[in-house]
Amino acid sequence: MIIGCPKEIKPQEFRVGMTPNAAGEAVAHGHRVLIETGAGKGAGFEDSDYTDAGAEIAGTAADVFSTADMIVKVKEPQPGERKMLREGQVLFTYLHLAPDPEQTRDLIASGATCIAYETVTDDRGGLPLLAPMSEVAGRLAPQVGAWTLQKANGGRGVLMGGVPGVGPARVLVIGGGVVGTHAARIAAGMGADVTVLDRSLARLRYLDDVFGREFKTSYASAGNTIELARAADMIVGAVLIPGAAAPKLISRAQLSELKPGAALVDVAIDQGGCFETSRATTHQDPVYEVDGIMHYCVANMPGAVARTSTIALGNATMPFMLALADKGWKQACLDDPHLLDGLNIHAGQLTYFAVGKALGIDVVSPSIVVKQ
Ligand SMILES: NC(=O)c1ccc[n+]([C@@H]2O[C@H](COP(=O)([O-])OP(=O)(O)OC[C@H]3O[C@@H](n4cnc5c(N)ncnc54)[C@H](O)[C@@H]3O)[C@@H](O)[C@H]2O)c1
Repeated sequence: MIIGCPKEIKPQEFRVGMTPNAAGEAVAHGHRVLIETGAGKGAGFEDSDYTDAGAEIAGTAADVFSTADMIVKVKEPQPGERKMLREGQVLFTYLHLAPDPEQTRDLIASGATCIAYETVTDDRGGLPLLAPMSEVAGRLAPQVGAWTLQKANGGRGVLMGGVPGVGPARVLVIGGGVVGTHAARIAAGMGADVTVLDRSLARLRYLDDVFGREFKTSYASAGNTIELARAADMIVGAVLIPGAAAPKLISRAQLSELKPGAALVDVAIDQGGCFETSRATTHQDPVYEVDGIMHYCVANMPGAVARTSTIALGNATMPFMLALADKGWKQACLDDPHLLDGLNIHAGQLTYFAVGKALGIDVVSPSIVVKQ
């Protein structure tokens, strides 16, 4: 198979769909890999890193799209890229179709087979190609929150770990899933006094069993949330209700009860945010103040550490990419129902029920399509 990887063109996207390591593995499996020149630059990979791994360099995205049997990317294809897709070609990338009717229409019209990272599943009910980005965002949250807490950045002027004779910062993490657990571990590692809130007792039990005294856990009732928030120097918003907007857990009126200069890091901003006063920001201008409280609300946090994020995503996508290339999409999906869960569109038909429901488009079951 010829596997193509174009340079990402969405603004502020520095990741790349294939690392030189992934390219090398595909070449070792007998495939040709075509990388657009400069595609890895934002993540710190030169063209020569790819050619050393056995890949070839293409001059333009058009060369990649017209030659490759399968396109491996990071972000959903932009309008110009969608025009270059063709029937029989496989597209493997993040798609997020439900809120994007225009993209969905274009991909259906292209005739291509589109497998979305975000809907591939694993046997524990998780989303293995979303988890690495939650891990990155979670671990980044205390790092950006610590910066926000510095006086010159508008914060309280509190050091995460304190010093001998001065207590540490208090960090409250709301939501103890992937983001929250990684945020709590890093904050605790920085020496902060950390509490994690969740609505799931099973999750709180798991955190208590695994992390013991590293951080405290508490049930996320409204009363507990505001009581712990009043005492916090930093609050990390890490809740998720699958398929729904994030619940608002701290209202504007409650900001006056928080410590002046406290830092709110709303990781859940990509689902609308879990603080009433959250609005999405960018890496160029990440922090703003409301009623004396600093808000960090960057919607694509992993972009700040594009190299780590690219490698983490590449590690997760590589086995699926190799299966698709080695067996062809049909056999790979027949052999692996979790990969079949990723099939969103095939040959002009929508094959993902939640997207069909959101957009009012007829859906053909993926289990039928894969056997045709
Ligand atoms: N900003 C970014 O760059 C970025 C990057 C990755 C993930 N995210 C977002 O971070 C959020 C968390 O993702 P995740 O992978 O950790 O999800 P997850 O499903 O692993 O964890 C979410 C947790 O929130 C808990 N929860 C739900 N409602 C709650 C409530 N009212 N109070 C307390 N806890 C509650 C759930 O029980 C669960 O444990 C999502 O919105 C995700 O989209 C953002």
